[in-house]
This record gives sequence, structure tokens and C-alpha cells, in this order.
Amino acid sequence: MQIKQFRYGADNLGYLVFCQNTGVAVDAGAVEEILDFVQKHRISISQVTNTHLHPDHTSGNEQIIKKTGAVFLDCKKFYDGQQIQLDKEVLKVIATPGHTSDSVCFAADGFLVTGDTLFNGTVGNCFSGDLTAFYHSLKKLLAFPRATRVFAGHDYVAESLEIAAALDPDNPDIARYLEKYDPLFVTSTLADEQLVNPFLRFNSDVMIRKLKQRNFSCSTEKQRFISLMEAF
Ligand SMILES: [Fe+2]
Repeated sequence: MQIKQFRYGADNLGYLVFCQNTGVAVDAGAVEEILDFVQKHRISISQVTNTHLHPDHTSGNEQIIKKTGAVFLDCKKFYDGQQIQLDKEVLKVIATPGHTSDSVCFAADGFLVTGDTLFNGTVGNCFSGDLTAFYHSLKKLLAFPRATRVFAGHDYVAESLEIAAALDPDNPDIARYLEKYDPLFVTSTLADEQLVNPFLRFNSDVMIRKLKQRNFSCSTEKQRFISLMEAF
């Protein structure tokens, strides 16, 4: 399975996930670029879907469907573990409520498409209001191998790493992370995220100390995640 990233809008990132000559467009806002790419590489877009239904992620759906005849897969109707067939391989749906209640991620061998659930350097806002669900969703993602690549729904790397550095100025992994950052191909691994992303560092001494200084509850891992989301 291969993945191609497309930048659009101020900081949105959309994707074409493809196997041989069949692809699924995910958050396909970069309509022209996607259509150019599939034409050049003789890929047929069989399906169009989204990580969630916020308008900046769905803006390209209609045009791509109109131009290619692809089938629309409504992410609200996905179930956890559902498989999207692409040629001989499958892209797996992971239900990840938290940012919104209908948020999903997509998993293939070696990578995750994480929408606004997990960004490179931070996590999404909790519009659903359900931080417990958000915690369990992130734990599901963290259960993937550490080398798994994270392909997110926005490029918030610069501002997120600034926040990470303000919270943990002595963290040497932040500079290493920024050295690898490429705005033309925005990605990181789950291992990178666990070293720098403040909202995944619910077991780090530094973050726990920060929370305690501000009198936030640190009793359990889930509580520490919730405290991190409320504090920062
Ligand atoms: Fe969103």
C-alpha cells in the first residue's frame, strides 16, 4: 500500500492511499493536484472518504466523485475494524472518537492516516467533549508499532513544537524532530511522537511535574491525559 500526501488550504493535508492502480482519496481537498496525480500514474480512484466531517476535510468530496465516479464512503457509517479493499490489500478503519464523535483513522502496513485525532507534535481539539473516548482512541493508535508513520490532517508542526519546547525546554528530541521536519512531506513516527508530543507524554516525569505544579490530578494515566488536555 502506498500513500501520497497533498497540501491544501492554509495547513490542511489530504491523502491518496493506493495499491497498484486503485486508490482511495481521504480528505481530498486538493482536488486538482489529486486528479493530476492519478492521471499521471494511471490510478483509478475507486472510493472517497474522510477522517471526519469537518468542512475543511470534506471540501473536495463532491468534485472528486463527479470527476472520477468514485463511491463515497461516509465515515459516520464506518464500524471499527472495517476494511476498505484496494486491489489485493486492505485499508483498515479504526474508530477514534475524541476530536469529533465520528472521527476515524485509517491503518495500513506501516502508516496511519490520523486526521485531526493525532497531529505531528500535538493532538486535536476535543470538540466532542469526550476526553475519555479521546484517551482510548489515542491508546489504540499507540498500540501500533513504534516505527508506524503518522500522516495527519493538518501541518501544525511549527506551533506545536514551540509549545512542546516551552513545556519541556531541556528535551533534546524536540530539536531532532524539527531537523527532520519537511513541509513538503509532513510525517513522523509514533516513536517520535512519544518523545515530543506533550499530550502523549502522560507518563513522563516532566509533564507529571508540570501538572502537579498546577494542582491537576495525576492519579491514573487516563486522568493525566485529561489533565494535560485541560491544562495546556
Ligand atoms: Fe476537524
